Amino acid sequence: MNLTLKIWRQKNADTTGSVETYPISDVSPDMSFLEMLDVLNEQLINEGKEPVAFDHDCREGICGMCSLYINGQAHGPDREITTCQLHMRSFKDGDTITIEPWRAAGFPVVKDLVVDRGGFDRIMNAGGFVSVNTSGNTIDANAIPIPKADADEAFDAATSIGCGACVATCKNAAAMLFVSAKVSQLALLPQGKVEAADRVLNMVNQMELEGFGNCTNTGACEVECPKGISLDNIARMNREYLSASFTSK
Ligand code: SF4
Ligand code: FES
Repeated sequence: MNLTLKIWRQKNADTTGSVETYPISDVSPDMSFLEMLDVLNEQLINEGKEPVAFDHDCREGICGMCSLYINGQAHGPDREITTCQLHMRSFKDGDTITIEPWRAAGFPVVKDLVVDRGGFDRIMNAGGFVSVNTSGNTIDANAIPIPKADADEAFDAATSIGCGACVATCKNAAAMLFVSAKVSQLALLPQGKVEAADRVLNMVNQMELEGFGNCTNTGACEVECPKGISLDNIARMNREYLSASFTSK
């Protein structure tokens, strides 16, 4: 396949970026999207040019690092996959592919296609955990029976990989799908209920401090989420938040 790539290039957070055009030839339909970018970077290095910076780690759909806006869609044209799981067979010979970083105030561009998603880490630090007494008297987690339906829902919520596609897709750059998944995965379990009120208040507060927008129920986040995280989590977080607002001291 021969393709034309239009890629966002930006030296650093303080400079203005622009779209640069790169032709690329002999792309195998079996290559992953990131492998195709590797080939482009080899080509650029051989030409003495600066390679394109892009984020990745596991390349298996687990880590959430590969965050690219491809032809106007987070993680590209296919559903429920990450950019690293996207293959070139999803495109046609002769296609022009536009590749941009996530665009959101909460995700400032670091370089080219790499954005700073530290805001998600700070939201997690604000409450996305369970405090455990490690004195040696800790109750074995398996000793607490949990209804299967709750365990399944908690597990589904826990599959959010923090990629940020929900934010990038939302017209308000809201982070509520991610935050609600992280609130839900603990709120549904007895181990998480102890700190549930503080957790939801602190995480939502940090979400607002990080400059993410508010949910207006468009649902685009759910459509573009590579892990199929449900909007039901946002409804659950809103209920948790309301109840915590009345009960917390
Ligand atoms: S909710 Fe989905 S889109 Fe948002 S960070 Fe988690 S996995 Fe990514
Ligand atoms: S590189 Fe880890 S999810 Fe894509």
